[in-house]
Amino acid sequence: YLNYHVPRTRREILEILLKGLLRLEYRGYDSAGVGIDGGNGKEWEANARSIQLIKQSGKVKALDDELTKQQDMDMDVEFDVHLGIAHTRWATHGAPSPVNSHPQRSDKKSNEECLLLKCICVFFFFLEFIVIHNGIITNYKDLQKFLESKGYEFESETDTETIAKLVKYMYDNRESEDLSFATLVERVTQQLEGAFVLVFKSVHYPGEAVGTRRGGPLLIGVKSDHKLSTDHIPILYRSCKLLVNCSLSQDTCHTLFAEEKKSVEYYFASDASAVIEHTNRVIFLEDDDVAAVTAGRLTIHRIKRTAGDHPARAIQTLQMELQQIMKGNYSSFMQKEIFEQPESVVNTMRGRKRDMTTDHIKEIQRCRRLILIACGTSYHAGVATRQVLEELTELPVMVELASDFLDRNTPVFRDDVCFFISQSGETADSLMALRYCKERGALTVGVTNTVGSSISRETDCGVHINAGPEIGVASTKAYTSQFVALIMFALLMCDDRISMQPRRREIIQGLRVLPDLIKEVLSLDDEIQRLAAELYQQKSVLIMGRGYHYATCLEGALKIKEITYMHSEGILAGELKHGPLALVDKLMPVIMIIMRDHTYTKCQNALQQVVARAGRPIVICDKDDYETAKSSSRTIKVPHCVDCLQGILSVIPLQLLSFHLAVLRGFDVDCPRNLAKSVTVE
Ligand code: F6R
Repeated sequence: YLNYHVPRTRREILEILLKGLLRLEYRGYDSAGVGIDGGNGKEWEANARSIQLIKQSGKVKALDDELTKQQDMDMDVEFDVHLGIAHTRWATHGAPSPVNSHPQRSDKKSNEECLLLKCICVFFFFLEFIVIHNGIITNYKDLQKFLESKGYEFESETDTETIAKLVKYMYDNRESEDLSFATLVERVTQQLEGAFVLVFKSVHYPGEAVGTRRGGPLLIGVKSDHKLSTDHIPILYRSCKLLVNCSLSQDTCHTLFAEEKKSVEYYFASDASAVIEHTNRVIFLEDDDVAAVTAGRLTIHRIKRTAGDHPARAIQTLQMELQQIMKGNYSSFMQKEIFEQPESVVNTMRGRKRDMTTDHIKEIQRCRRLILIACGTSYHAGVATRQVLEELTELPVMVELASDFLDRNTPVFRDDVCFFISQSGETADSLMALRYCKERGALTVGVTNTVGSSISRETDCGVHINAGPEIGVASTKAYTSQFVALIMFALLMCDDRISMQPRRREIIQGLRVLPDLIKEVLSLDDEIQRLAAELYQQKSVLIMGRGYHYATCLEGALKIKEITYMHSEGILAGELKHGPLALVDKLMPVIMIIMRDHTYTKCQNALQQVVARAGRPIVICDKDDYETAKSSSRTIKVPHCVDCLQGILSVIPLQLLSFHLAVLRGFDVDCPRNLAKSVTVE
């Protein structure tokens, strides 16, 4: 966060940073840290000649508590200009601890000091550069070895520390005194391999911020009472120092604010939710952009020009509302998001195609096959809709886990169409798979929930599922919206086929009534809470189904695993007798999904096989299915819907069940251990 001629007290600055961290906490919550100007004097520039770092393990609240203990920081001192950076971490290299948390610092310390640092969380030493980082630097060991040979000592186990030391090394060895901060950072990034989003602060560049990205999201929120001097920031190419294809004059092109002393605040963030309460005017950076604020002016540079580069970055106005990222009366974001589903599916149905032309649609209709590529819950949305996609497009459909798809070097051809389903639009495995498919000439289609995300920008065209921000780490409303979006796509693909019209009408009618049916399922909440009270001390839960409901089994089991830490397995009922039946006895909790569709008779067989082994199945079934109820120890009765949409109604009881189980087991529903919302590392 950088304020330029907007006077703020240190207390306000810290509040802005910590609130931003709280909004981002769902992306990682192992530890958190903040780096601000250290001086307490009247001159902001002098204050910015020292840095104070405060870091703590655990959630942002722990950092906040640590800050309130600070005696030596004058909270009322006012800063006319100030840059503060803050970070909440999801550990990749090194356990969660103050010393491993970010910001990481440039300055070498003796081993004794390092030992001491492991026990305390306040860093008063003279620091030259600090940096915050999302991602993984794959060549950090080589860089570390090089820096150690130059006398640097490392205190943390992180890959990020090498960046902090490298920037200092390159600064100390600069050939010219007037090296700009942006150029320095560009040089540093040229040495880095892997994925990174970085923001730097330095005592050598008071009041200046530099941020850059490669393989992760970074946006800049701009807040000003003045009219912005432009709504595009053209890109400056360092190597040629030229502005390309820019309709604006050179003077206005260079900067967002050309005049000195215009007040403006900049917010660099990995997610719009961190800035939305301050501004809805944002610039999404692209890979290899280096954005710098110097004397209140924002410039964006690229190291080299590459084919297909956009000549400018637009300042976009976000539609997101603050209340969308608040919990309201719910106890957790997950609970709120489960209960939002009657509205979120409608928002998905309103549809937001992105860059999808009639040529794209024709190309898809003519393609050799569709490949749906995703991870986790988003993969399950692909599994759930595969059958109806095959039916309505009459094309072969493959559903692939992004990591496995890449591991196998799966053959992809120019006449394939590859879908990338991702709530965040930033999942590293999916993004890598997208680039792999693009290189092979396939048409790429994004199905994302995050406007401006990497997947939505890098795919040729796509759909924005419009579910609204999803904050709970366990995905719920994004799943049902992905489900609906894929079905809408299948309907679009066959809208001119006469033979498909009766089926299309049936599905469209199903979509019309879906929001009310979801409400009906949500009204089962109390009943499901009672079921959770019976199950919450169990170690394991098996979930069985087939056909349209296999995806529900996988998704229900994933929800239970990730937030309750119970073992749970989604089992294809057709595979029961090939192994999993051995797990069934009178003690093992078994949930079965049996709906009146083309698999009904086969599901009845599976039910009888479970009952014959003394199993006591809890069955999710159609509300008038008395036959199934007779063989079940308990039923959860859901309304009937067209077969290909029924999976939306069968998954909601499992979302609710996992939520109640987690609450009863005393776990933090929104922040399950070891997980993060957006997995931007491979
Ligand atoms: C589970 C969950 C994860 C994500 C997966 C992919 O509840 O949220 O399994 O579905 O990490 O994330 P996106 O959809 O953002 O690509």
